[in-house]
Amino acid sequence: MADLSPSRNERIFAACAPGLEPVLARELSALGILAQAVPGGADGEGPDATARACIGSRVADAVRVRVWEGPVRDLAEARRRLLSRHPPGDILARRSGSQATLSVDASGDPLFKRGWRARIGAAPLRESLAGGLLRHLGYDGATSFLDPMCGSGTIAIEAALIACRRAPGLGRSFAFETWPGHDPANAASLRSSLAAEAREPPAPLLASDRNGGAVRLATKNAEAAGVARFLRIERRDAAEVDPPSGAGICLVNPPYGVRLDEEVKGAWTSLGLLMARLAGWTVGVLTGSPGLAKLLPGSPVETLHVRNGGLRCVLLTYRP
Ligand SMILES: C[S@@+](CC[C@H](N)C(=O)[O-])C[C@H]1O[C@@H](n2cnc3c(N)ncnc32)[C@H](O)[C@@H]1O
Repeated sequence: MADLSPSRNERIFAACAPGLEPVLARELSALGILAQAVPGGADGEGPDATARACIGSRVADAVRVRVWEGPVRDLAEARRRLLSRHPPGDILARRSGSQATLSVDASGDPLFKRGWRARIGAAPLRESLAGGLLRHLGYDGATSFLDPMCGSGTIAIEAALIACRRAPGLGRSFAFETWPGHDPANAASLRSSLAAEAREPPAPLLASDRNGGAVRLATKNAEAAGVARFLRIERRDAAEVDPPSGAGICLVNPPYGVRLDEEVKGAWTSLGLLMARLAGWTVGVLTGSPGLAKLLPGSPVETLHVRNGGLRCVLLTYRP
């Protein structure tokens, strides 16, 4: 973690996809925030916690900063005063017994919007979910990465950004930066500290898909994200993929459908054939239809329940 000189203590709540709360809390801790997982996200506290979370978190979807707490009888007056500084829609009041808190949306546009996506593909996966699952699997960019069904490239691009140690919020602005009294020098020095951590990925990153349109879209997205030169993107059936040598992390989101049609069955069968050649790897399979895993060899060593948007999914982890 870069040396970031402390200035103000702030209390925040960062929201994430349900299931990723412990991953988010660990990530915030690595950003220098005292953090604790709570349902739907993580509570955090520390100097410049708002800016650190907004600029540095790949797992959070939104960040709120707590601006007031006190007895419920004072809540209306505190809210009225806050309205002179913030739009009503950004202010959230919470009551717990006789105590209440007020918090304000600090991130603005959702944090999963990294700014590179040319268009939403058929089965969009949030960038923050991809980042969180990669972290959950232990990916830090030091070992090889593979997504053999890359679609629009979300997972592979997120892996490349992790491998490059490129903080997600370097190129965008946040709601807190428009607040009265905001000190732009703090955010600027945080951005330059995080930017100084960037590096070239030390291990190979491979993405492939059997669909030519998906390969073109993933390539375009990787270019927009500035990671195309670090990613090998190939048109290939998963069964034909030649994984980088040695161990690595594979994260894949195979197609699934209500019925077990031939295309879906073929995809999972191909993935099973590839997994037989991934000895020593950690393989994460994200799916809304865990029953299809019967087409894969072996059993998952772990099942993590998560949500992508409103959809229930599971991440099945294999160690072939
Ligand atoms: C659910 S989508 C992946 C979406 C991707 N995670 C994203 O964020 O855009 C599944 C992908 O698997 C690809 N696919 C299906 N069968 C395949 C196979 N046998 N080999 C390789 N890719 C396959 C499809 O073309 C599709 O792009």
